[in-house]
Amino acid sequence: MRMYDLIMKKRNGGALSDDEIAFMIKGFTNGEIYDYQMSAMMMAIYFQGMNEQETLALTMEMAQSGDMLDLSSIKGIKVDKHSTGGVGDKTSLALAPMVASLGVPVAKMSGRGLGHTGGTIDKLESFAGFSTALTEEQFKENVNRIGIAIMGQTADLAPADKKLYSLRDVTATVDNMSLIASSIMSKKLAAGADAIVLDVKTGSGAFMKKEEDAFALAEEMVKLGKGAGRNTVAIVSDMDQPLGYAVGNALEVREAIETLNGRGPEDFKELCLTLGSHMVTVAGKAADAEKARAMLEQCIEDKSALNKLADFVEAQGGDRELVYHPERLPKASITEDIASPADGYVGRIVCDEIGMCSLILGGGRETKESEIDLSVGLVLRKKVGDSVKKGEPLATIHANDADKLKEAKERFLRAYIISDTPVIKNELIKGIVTE
Ligand code: URA
Repeated sequence: MRMYDLIMKKRNGGALSDDEIAFMIKGFTNGEIYDYQMSAMMMAIYFQGMNEQETLALTMEMAQSGDMLDLSSIKGIKVDKHSTGGVGDKTSLALAPMVASLGVPVAKMSGRGLGHTGGTIDKLESFAGFSTALTEEQFKENVNRIGIAIMGQTADLAPADKKLYSLRDVTATVDNMSLIASSIMSKKLAAGADAIVLDVKTGSGAFMKKEEDAFALAEEMVKLGKGAGRNTVAIVSDMDQPLGYAVGNALEVREAIETLNGRGPEDFKELCLTLGSHMVTVAGKAADAEKARAMLEQCIEDKSALNKLADFVEAQGGDRELVYHPERLPKASITEDIASPADGYVGRIVCDEIGMCSLILGGGRETKESEIDLSVGLVLRKKVGDSVKKGEPLATIHANDADKLKEAKERFLRAYIISDTPVIKNELIKGIVTE
């Protein structure tokens, strides 16, 4: 087999066989196929697309290109949750302890933030002493003992995807549905869960700006999950404005703790209940999503989810008392309100710009190596559809540097569009994709 022939076949609109895809991915991973040929192939796929069978073969080959985590020593049906990323998306922080408190084993690999979106691991490091550097044995042992563990992604999880993604990033071939779906699902399949619940974001803060693209991606990923024998459900949810009110690492942890105390923002709580009810159902802990939802509401009410978060933080080296005293989490030295420049209604929030404000303050990374400031960020006071008077605060900025605060404030004011006329509030859950 020759890569040249495969590129020509795809360029001319042909479908690659399973063997051809295996040859291509194995060769690329071990360095026998060079970047320039793979770049040409990615561009050919970008224009010609891939059918269902090709997409599944690509996903499975990338999943099997490195370690496949074996979670069989963990009792019960392991359910993973994955979000395509957004601003203020602290869902795992509340959702993981919620479902774990109902007996759903959570064995999760999470990432760090990059660009305008945050990452679960950075947020968790707001708990002094907390570490995600667990061995595979410790990881499984913690799940069996307390029902929950989160570790950083190992270097050898789907290495073909890692290499391919870097190439796509610099050759304008990221935004192809089959390539995105296979990239995300290869990592999820390698991470070993029995079932997968996906949160596909849509809107100005999301990867998929258009709703129809988010649904297409959701459908593609659900098909891939099923094709690989994993029960998969996708929720398409709004990311046209930040989720909840807090944006920034420790600020988001505080909001997640508030939510587990029953005082969380409505939209954030609703998303946790929706995703959670599907996780609990696919794990076989409830007969249907409605019953699961009632169980999840109860675990907030009786504080079992909050206590589960404390157990989890402690098991990974963190200070459990911070869960009960969130005021002791990292705090910025300056807080300043941003006043509304006009009377009216919040018409639109350019969501990724709010993520950028947090990044400017020091809460995000500009490069993979950047150090981040866990204490800084923003707490929104008004969201889309809310009425506002001139001079009333739109948000509070938490900063440690006056110059960065000034820059973030200017950017924030450009991202909040005030309308003279009432505005319809965003719908949070756009739809649920099953089979
Ligand atoms: N996230 C991924 O992991 N892969 C993509 O291709 C796009 C987003």
